[in-house]
Amino acid sequence: MSKLWGGRFTKETNQLVEEFTASISFDQQLAKEDIEGSMAHVTMLGECGIIPTEDAETIKKGLQTILAKVEKGEVQFQVEHEDIHMNIEKLLIDEIGPVGGKLHTGRSRNDQVATDMHLYLRHKTEEFIQLLTNVQKAFLQQASENVDTILPGYTHLQRAQPVSFGHHLMAYFWMFERDKERLQDSLKRVNMLPLGAGALAGTTFPINRERVAELLHFETVYPNSMDAVSDRDFILEFLSIASILMTHISRLSEELVIWSSQEFQFIELDDSFCTGSSIMPQKKNPDVPELLRAKTGRVYGNLIGLLTVLKGLPLAYNKDMQEDKEGMLDTVATLDGSLRLLAPMIETMQVNKDKMKRAVKEDYSNATDIADYLVTKGLPFREAHEVIGKIVLYSIQHKKFLLELKIEEYQQFSPLFEEDIYPILEPEHVVAARNSLGGTAPNQVRAQLKLAYEKLAK
Ligand code: ARG
Repeated sequence: MSKLWGGRFTKETNQLVEEFTASISFDQQLAKEDIEGSMAHVTMLGECGIIPTEDAETIKKGLQTILAKVEKGEVQFQVEHEDIHMNIEKLLIDEIGPVGGKLHTGRSRNDQVATDMHLYLRHKTEEFIQLLTNVQKAFLQQASENVDTILPGYTHLQRAQPVSFGHHLMAYFWMFERDKERLQDSLKRVNMLPLGAGALAGTTFPINRERVAELLHFETVYPNSMDAVSDRDFILEFLSIASILMTHISRLSEELVIWSSQEFQFIELDDSFCTGSSIMPQKKNPDVPELLRAKTGRVYGNLIGLLTVLKGLPLAYNKDMQEDKEGMLDTVATLDGSLRLLAPMIETMQVNKDKMKRAVKEDYSNATDIADYLVTKGLPFREAHEVIGKIVLYSIQHKKFLLELKIEEYQQFSPLFEEDIYPILEPEHVVAARNSLGGTAPNQVRAQLKLAYEKLAK
């Protein structure tokens, strides 16, 4: 079977080369975008009188027939036609005859493939913004139910100061909000039209790029044809945003794994989101967060992979750039699966409020509050810190918690101590006292929830 570009060749392509250079096994995922781009291109060709209007109409009908077949899964793509662009062009010519050969007038696969990728990432970016919103809703719901749930807050994974569990969960809400903002902002650069750049230098035909941009709902056209066909920044940007997003998911996953361990028992993931062991009948494993944590690796890998592909490339198009696709498609699939799981897993998570409360009672995480108490009585903070350090050491040596020390014991360390120290040390008080803007006091958490609901309503 002869190639669409076969004219200057005297030999058939080596079979191994054909398989090695083909991208159809994966770029068939761009079939709809490829047809969408072609429809706009041929509309413009007809309108500008570059091809007869009847031909443009015939081609559009042909493309529609192919789209319907693609959607029904009736199309057999062929390795011998290398990629999605030539497969569809071949299907078109088979469908409507030689007039189908007019579709590729004034364009190249180089500006075509870039256009397909822009269209594809626009669709996916919009989907991910929606999926992230669903995840945020799950966090908002759990946070609203746990404003007054107190658990230890950690630094260095050592008990630091007690916090509201709602506050802790809302930290993730804001991370996902930034991810959404990054996606939203990236759309500016996704919504740029490369088509019309030709192979690299533009075209001899009197095309109208603005019209194609309008038909495809792009905000702008690339002002430089060489940049248009060489640019993969928008894919790098997507992979970077995805990497940061997966970092957030991975940190969350690590917390879920820790919290659901026998040692912590702060939460229990729903049975429907856990799996068992083939040998140990008692096991209920947090496989989902573990896999989410692990899948972060492949997303980082895809980013590094594409950065490396691009770093040494001269302008303009090089076949190397075909390697932009699998990493992107894999990242899209990974994000899609991860975000779809995350929302219901958080929604159905059981929170063990008693366990959390007990943990807070059995630690020294109220020590800062005793220091602050002495500061309000006039002692400089640095001196207060030293005094409380000694009190904590004394308590550890005497196997007591700070609430269990007698007032006489406190007074051995400073005459400033009085009975009013005790209510200050209760976990609820410790949390409520951190009422500074953005702090963990229930008042502040409620204000934060209000802000979050407003963000989502926009
Ligand atoms: N399959 C190619 C890719 O994904 C399409 C562009 C091919 N262009 C070319 N001049 N060989 O990059």
